[in-house]
Amino acid sequence: MEYNFDEIIDRRHTNSAKFDEMDALFGSDVMHLGVADMDYRSPEPILNAMQKIVKKGVFGYTILPDNYQDLVCQWMLRRYHEKIDPEWVVFSPRINMALNMVVETFTNPGDGIVLHTPAYTALQNAIEKYDRKMIESSLVLENGRYRMDFKQLREALDDNLKKGIHTSLMLLCNPHNPTGRVWNKGELDEIASSCKDYNLMLVADEIHADFLKKGKEFVSTLKIRTELKERLIVCNSITKTFNVPGVILSNMIIPDTRIREKVKETIDRWGLHNPNIFAAGIMEAAYTECDDWLEQVNIYLEENYNFLAKYLQKHMPELEVIPSEGTYMAWIKTSKLGISPKALEQFFIEKAKVSVYMGDRYGKHTEEFIRVNIATSREYLEKALHRVKVHYDESVQGR
Ligand SMILES: Cc1ncc(COP(=O)(O)O)c(C=O)c1O
Repeated sequence: MEYNFDEIIDRRHTNSAKFDEMDALFGSDVMHLGVADMDYRSPEPILNAMQKIVKKGVFGYTILPDNYQDLVCQWMLRRYHEKIDPEWVVFSPRINMALNMVVETFTNPGDGIVLHTPAYTALQNAIEKYDRKMIESSLVLENGRYRMDFKQLREALDDNLKKGIHTSLMLLCNPHNPTGRVWNKGELDEIASSCKDYNLMLVADEIHADFLKKGKEFVSTLKIRTELKERLIVCNSITKTFNVPGVILSNMIIPDTRIREKVKETIDRWGLHNPNIFAAGIMEAAYTECDDWLEQVNIYLEENYNFLAKYLQKHMPELEVIPSEGTYMAWIKTSKLGISPKALEQFFIEKAKVSVYMGDRYGKHTEEFIRVNIATSREYLEKALHRVKVHYDESVQGR
């Protein structure tokens, strides 16, 4: 079936975090390119599955479908060429909960936790809100591409060890939000050896795995499971993939029995074992009938990305798009504008009236960046860019 991603759907007054929450913060005359969901209608088979549930009209307590784990296994094999055992798959309502769960279960207050920065806020929160210490592994931007700095990481780990700080865990975002890097096998191998050498557990958040630029391959962190044996948890989800994050549904893939049992105990303690009725009801459709939607959305997203990159290059060359390999985010360097982060925010919100995510939410060193969510219709994206251009011409070029 052919999908129409050009359709503009008014999402205001639907309790939308992207529109209603941001309207409340910035005003309803602002266009929003911040919160990471897409403005597209979900695939038809998913909508049909939901409608079937609504039609019944009874929304009782819900259990996971019998074939839940098999569906995830088939998906992992078909999409990422990873053969996994059904019993490794454990349901978690959200990845953000899974991250907190792992931190609470496997680390202690005061422990060090490695995070590659810049980093998605929930990854930072899982460390800081649980009183653990963030051991930063700062990504290095070199010739327009981010890379990990394993030498710096090992130095930071050694340094903390000398100070008596025990580091127990690494959180990895693969593909990486916000930079759009898709880590390759060589990089994953280096991660595996760092985790082995320093006795770290590894949790990989793979929620963006299905958004790839043409020709780019996703390598799941499960590829390094033999090296890591008992220390790996991979979190993934089809909620971003098919734009249903509001249904709350994710998987934890845990090869090691002992780790898995401990996670299950936490799930039980937190009372998180029942899925949302819509989450359970759409699984079969999502995992088996929607690949065509995904293929088409990836093409549309890449066209949006190229459109944005060309537009900025032509009209606002001081906003530099960092080439990305995946995700539906554009990570944009703004330092050439030569204005303070505060003025940058005012420029976007108060003048252009376009909300984007400001770089400081991703860590200490990225104040001069913004993240733009391009998963919207081309028309909406163009209109937002035009608003920015008008104020750019006035305030930047008029300097
Ligand atoms: C890297 C990353 N992990 C997790 C999430 C949220 O996942 P969930 O809705 O399952 O908590 C997001 C959403 O933006 C994300 O970007």
